[in-house]
Amino acid sequence: MSRRWTNDLTQDDVTPEGLFLNRRQLMAGAGALGIAGGLAAPAGAETLEPNAYEDITNYCNYYEFGTGKDDPAKYAGALTTEPWTVQIDGLVDKPGDYTLTDLVSQMDIEERIYRFRCVEAWSMVVPWQGFELADLLDMVGVKPEAQYVAFETALRPDEMPGVKYPVLDWPYVEGLRLDEARHPLTLLATGLYGKPMLNQNGAPIRLVVPWKYGFKSIKSVVKITLTDTQPPTSWNKANAGEYGFYSNVNPTVDHPRWSQATERRLGGGLFARREPTLLFNGYDEVAGLYDGMDLVRNF
Ligand code: MTE
Repeated sequence: MSRRWTNDLTQDDVTPEGLFLNRRQLMAGAGALGIAGGLAAPAGAETLEPNAYEDITNYCNYYEFGTGKDDPAKYAGALTTEPWTVQIDGLVDKPGDYTLTDLVSQMDIEERIYRFRCVEAWSMVVPWQGFELADLLDMVGVKPEAQYVAFETALRPDEMPGVKYPVLDWPYVEGLRLDEARHPLTLLATGLYGKPMLNQNGAPIRLVVPWKYGFKSIKSVVKITLTDTQPPTSWNKANAGEYGFYSNVNPTVDHPRWSQATERRLGGGLFARREPTLLFNGYDEVAGLYDGMDLVRNF
């Protein structure tokens, strides 16, 4: 399958854990950080080093299992992820219930090292494993009228202790414009650090949209719907003044209750300096998707 990437990393670029990652390394957005072909970053730019596996898997947001950062690691083990079916419907040529095994067997799984920026102003770097959402969309065939993709998380009150609280209007839902969904950076991830995705991180399959705030990256997806209207999204429904549909990372558009200009990189320790937040989280290649759009109004 042809790929459109120029910034491949080598094994040496991924250090912690000394794990696997010997397949094709991809670090899209490297250009934006001044790193090319795995060479060291010039002065002023940072090197992209993944966070420790323990950090990524123990500091989580997955409100279906509680609102504490350690709740998902404690309670998400209860989620049954096998068998898993993803319903794909709406404006597609081949709607249906696809078993995850069937789906994944048809996809080209790669490793992608992405920066991940939460709307709460912390960030990390994650070596994901997954496939391009665009490939899945091609497989099911998108009808010409489709303009958006809607996603839904599993809702299992018996397995998810957090959904008895009305923190959000369950199930968790998210959405992307079709061109965002088709962007080659947009991933459906099935693992991280070369291991199958842990439940707390959204097993068995979750979205990853690295230029948007983390809440767009919906976990444990059971339904994907192609539609011609902008779909509702959980955080926007909960508070439209604070969370927009787009939610592109943008240091110049503050959250009403805190600044988005800087971020705290996880694993940096208590006294680590905050780092400047980059527009589109550093993934400048997506800028064209928003040509002519007012990013303050469309936050
Ligand atoms: N998806 C579901 N279904 N429920 C959630 O609470 N939290 C979101 C997003 N996806 C969330 C979700 C938020 S706020 C963030 S920052 C990321 O997941 C966190 O992903 P991580 O825990 O793997 O770092």
